Amino acid sequence: MIKYINSLENISENQLKGFFVDWPNPPSAKKHLELLNNSDYFWLAIDETTNNVVGFITAISDKTLSAYIPLLEVLPEYKGNGIGSKLVELILETLKDLYMVDLLCDTDVVGFYEKFSMIKSQGMIIRNYNSQSGL
Ligand SMILES: CC(C)(COP(=O)(O)OP(=O)(O)OC[C@H]1O[C@@H](n2cnc3c(N)ncnc32)[C@H](O)[C@@H]1OP(=O)(O)O)[C@@H](O)C(=O)NCCC(=O)NCCS
Repeated sequence: MIKYINSLENISENQLKGFFVDWPNPPSAKKHLELLNNSDYFWLAIDETTNNVVGFITAISDKTLSAYIPLLEVLPEYKGNGIGSKLVELILETLKDLYMVDLLCDTDVVGFYEKFSMIKSQGMIIRNYNSQSGL
């Protein structure tokens, strides 16, 4: 069974393995825990059999008008089981009273996000690749 939690109590680095697939210079599990801790909101999917985190979503917010969803990932072997959808539903419910909820994504996941009534838009970005593994 998968459980969904929004607390880091009892979560350690060794439960955060295998994320940031295909990132050339991925954050360590320590950095992963740090970014969860520093996010305004997050949800984790935990496999109750192994007690490992198998999916996560984060949001940062001004808590007045707007929020941004920087990261969503489900471990490869857990994909296609509704975990990503549940994480999106949970974060959108968490952010439902805010005016703006934004995220950037590649074109191959536009169809996934459209299922949650999200609308395709345009964005502008900067990526400092030297900092990809975290400050
Ligand atoms: C995108 C991602 C989070 C989806 O997680 P998941 O747990 O596999 O998603 P779900 O099982 O909830 O899939 C829900 C539905 O979306 C569909 N879907 C999944 N990935 C999709 C994609 N890339 N494009 C379009 N539809 C997609 C599934 O087919 C499923 O459709 P169904 O309900 O009609 O069967 C996961 O593929 C992932 O971690 N990808 C790599 C990281 C990434 O791209 N994150 C998003 C960054 S913006």
